[in-house]
Amino acid sequence: MGKTYAAITGVAGYVPDYVLTNAELETMVDTNDAWITERTGIKERRILKGDRMGTSFMGIEAVKDLLKKTNTNPEEIDLVICGTVTADHNFPDTANIIADKCGMKNAFTFDLGAACSGFLFSLTTGAQFIESGRYKKVIVIGADKMSSIINYEDRSTCIIFGDGAGAVLLEPDTENGIIDSYLRSDGSGIEFLHQKAGGSVLPASHETVDNKEHVVFQNGKPVFKHAVRGMSSAIREVMKNNNLSAEDVNWVVPHQANIRIIESVARMADFPMERVMVNIQKYGNTTAGTIPLCLWEWEDQLNKGDNLILTAFGGGFTWGATYLKWAY
Ligand code: UT7
Repeated sequence: MGKTYAAITGVAGYVPDYVLTNAELETMVDTNDAWITERTGIKERRILKGDRMGTSFMGIEAVKDLLKKTNTNPEEIDLVICGTVTADHNFPDTANIIADKCGMKNAFTFDLGAACSGFLFSLTTGAQFIESGRYKKVIVIGADKMSSIINYEDRSTCIIFGDGAGAVLLEPDTENGIIDSYLRSDGSGIEFLHQKAGGSVLPASHETVDNKEHVVFQNGKPVFKHAVRGMSSAIREVMKNNNLSAEDVNWVVPHQANIRIIESVARMADFPMERVMVNIQKYGNTTAGTIPLCLWEWEDQLNKGDNLILTAFGGGFTWGATYLKWAY
């Protein structure tokens, strides 16, 4: 019997309606459209407004659409993994809430962290359950409500992040699907990118709130360098392991953190930008949401058998690349 691959057989996404433009940010912090555009490539990002609206809201919207467009009975789903760093609650997991609201009664569910690499790590994890033959239908979500952990007085972070969610369905395929992944972590990266309070090291208190410690802290420059190095080396590894040259790859799907990072990675791997998915100008950095949101947007342009390389870098540090053959 031949190998069983975990193939993406559908993709869906959701972004909130509210558009936070660079012009509006100019009224909030000392910044300007020219700086943001030149240094990041971002023109606008989406923000989830409304009382008690968490990450699961966006995940539910994406998954409902995914089930509908793939004509899938929710009770057939075996497993739901949600990559996120902005879970609705510390517990239960957001994947749990999404499964309940979407009628996926027979699934087991869990969240996976890994920050901006959350979707890539979740995809590789979900794929194992299909490849082993144990399960037939797995949903992998990347979703983050970054606006819930951003200090809108900090111009170095508030201009970058946005809210959004994407989801894919994984099913067995004998020809196409996820071929290979190269994933890495380096815990020493905590110094440059983290959220200080709200975990067990520094639980929420009046003091942590007053000190604005429940938000993203980032030292951008070193993160930038590590991101370029991490994603380009991961792409190189995956290409070498699978005897791929740049011409063999139809699309590169990079995490959307900064247009300058994406362009540097493309240059180092010899990929023309025409074959690199970029939508950072519209959504900013949605953390675990960026890669599935790109796949969702480019779905109509993808053909069966296309070679895609997905790559991400994020807090942790975490990074990696996944080589897959598009299945429909
Ligand atoms: O997705 C997870 C991983 N994260 C990333 O990959 C992000 C990686 N880092 C970056 O994308 C970039 O480092 C940033 C976009 C965060 C910052 O860009 P930069 O080119 O590295 O700028 P910088 O932090 O070195 O700041 C340059 C100058 C500073 O002014 P001085 O000290 O030179 O006078 C900043 O204070 O730009 C200033 N600055 C701003 N000016 C206008 C910083 N933020 C802003 C702003 N508007 N929003």
